[in-house]
Amino acid sequence: MADPTLALTLRVQAAMAAAFGPQWREADPVIRPANKRQTDADFQANAAMAMAKQVGKPPREVAQAIVDQLTANADTGDAADDVIESVEIAGPGFLNLTLRTGWIAAAAQDQLADERLGIPTPSHERIVVDYSSVNAAKEMHVAHLRSAVVGDSLVRTMEALGHTVIRQNHLGDWGTAFGMLIEHLLEVGEESDEARLLESDPNTFYRAARAKFDAAEKAEPAGSAGDFDVRARKRVTLLQSGDAKTLQLWTEIMEMSKVYINRVYRELDVTLTDDDIAGESSYNAELPGICDELEAKGIATISDGALCVFLDGYIGRDDQPVPLIIRKSDGGYGYGTTDIATIKHRSLDLHADRALYVVGAPQNLHFRMAWGAADKAGWIQGTTPIHVQIGNVVGKDGKILRTRSGDLITLQSLVDAALAKANEVVDESRPDLPAEQRATIAHQVGVGAIKYADLSVAHDSGYTFDLERMLALQGNTGPYLQYATARITSILGRADAVDPSGPIVLTEPAERALALRLLDFGSVVAQVGESLEPHRLASYLFDLAQTFTTFYDQCPVLKAEDAAVRDSRLALCALTRMVLVRGLFLLGITAPEQM
Ligand code: ARG
Repeated sequence: MADPTLALTLRVQAAMAAAFGPQWREADPVIRPANKRQTDADFQANAAMAMAKQVGKPPREVAQAIVDQLTANADTGDAADDVIESVEIAGPGFLNLTLRTGWIAAAAQDQLADERLGIPTPSHERIVVDYSSVNAAKEMHVAHLRSAVVGDSLVRTMEALGHTVIRQNHLGDWGTAFGMLIEHLLEVGEESDEARLLESDPNTFYRAARAKFDAAEKAEPAGSAGDFDVRARKRVTLLQSGDAKTLQLWTEIMEMSKVYINRVYRELDVTLTDDDIAGESSYNAELPGICDELEAKGIATISDGALCVFLDGYIGRDDQPVPLIIRKSDGGYGYGTTDIATIKHRSLDLHADRALYVVGAPQNLHFRMAWGAADKAGWIQGTTPIHVQIGNVVGKDGKILRTRSGDLITLQSLVDAALAKANEVVDESRPDLPAEQRATIAHQVGVGAIKYADLSVAHDSGYTFDLERMLALQGNTGPYLQYATARITSILGRADAVDPSGPIVLTEPAERALALRLLDFGSVVAQVGESLEPHRLASYLFDLAQTFTTFYDQCPVLKAEDAAVRDSRLALCALTRMVLVRGLFLLGITAPEQM
């Protein structure tokens, strides 16, 4: 067993049970990394404090009884395999635990041979992850990028933990905007270059359609600028009533939009494919039935001509209950109705244990109400819906990113800017490499920089988009971690070490510290799976890279005098590289071989 926290937990639990009875067998001994400013120990156990009340003894006495058991066990023969070297009581009753260095070395050796690198397989779950979920025929913006990046990291992590993941790209592929898009498509001609914009630059297509619509609508006298608005509105009705020609035009727009978004996913190495698309339109047929059933169950009532759900606890500013409108007075259905349908589908058809919605924080109220309504109707069974809230990405001025003309900055322009900057960085750092290879590396670095910036801060807090900082080779950045990985690759290359396998022997403190940090990988990945916070993995990898640097500064590898020491250190290098590469992969970042 390679995970120190787990090994210590089991060991301390056994001592707790031996001292105070079997009811303590499964209790959490609360193993945490020790506070290095206060002790040289590796971990501390806080259990005695929590147990004191229940066993009716002062915490230090409880701690002493556990220590007696821990040391008694160690004397019974298998001491050489034991995880604990020494234990002492500190302060009010903490147990300070020092691991046996031989145990750490053996565990690191196991980790090196383990394909999973210590990533555990917790009890299996079915996990639905709704992410990216862009609005088709409209440019993706920064919030969508962050949803795609965070969501993709979560699905990669859940898959690594052995869960079944069902990706759902809830494309915004329906709604009144399609009326004007279809009319615009007809005017420019389905085969025209303007139509092809949907594949390359959908925002421009969208803006052109919107401009025509606005001009026609605002014209005085009415109709003096043509009837585009009237036709667009009529087109919405035709679309909703399933008119064949209209549906065919809608399909064309969607096909071209998919070409665009797939190109962005490939460019950013996001694992979504067409198979994951479950757009808004796919729920259309369900919506009338959902409304009827909610009304029949007395959950929805007509208010001002609209069918509404009122839920306890949702009171607006004016002390009036906040309605969730599920059918407008004109008979149309809204975003809320669709999300009642999504959770119903994900729970009752897809049988999700957890259903994650990786979506901007401002939509929290919307989700709580949609899920509240669905739950009342009995449509959430054995599923925990979770809103993984995405915080804003802001410019250096602290405001939502906008271009000079006031438009939201498009995702493509951010990616292009990052790639251009990464090209400069790589051209400068590796002029010796062929241009093609530099371009590949620059692409990996540019994408890595953006993704890491999104992932290294808590997903629900905002951050400032700052290309210079994101692409810096020093500091908590993607390129720093990519560079650290490439550096180890080069060390291994220079050693001609194909598959260093040790044996790992730990003598220097920096070797021991590195091995111990490596062993945390599995539990960090498991924590991300529970907490849904990829930034924990990002900080772990950053810390690991720094721990490696200390090791490399203090312990010669290629120049190690002794062949056995060199073999051991090369194995530590190889293991660090494997953990960094796998960790970056779970963040969705590729580690270049050279940099
Ligand atoms: N298309 C929506 C937007 O751009 C996000 C959809 C999120 N998923 C959901 N099931 N509502 O804001």
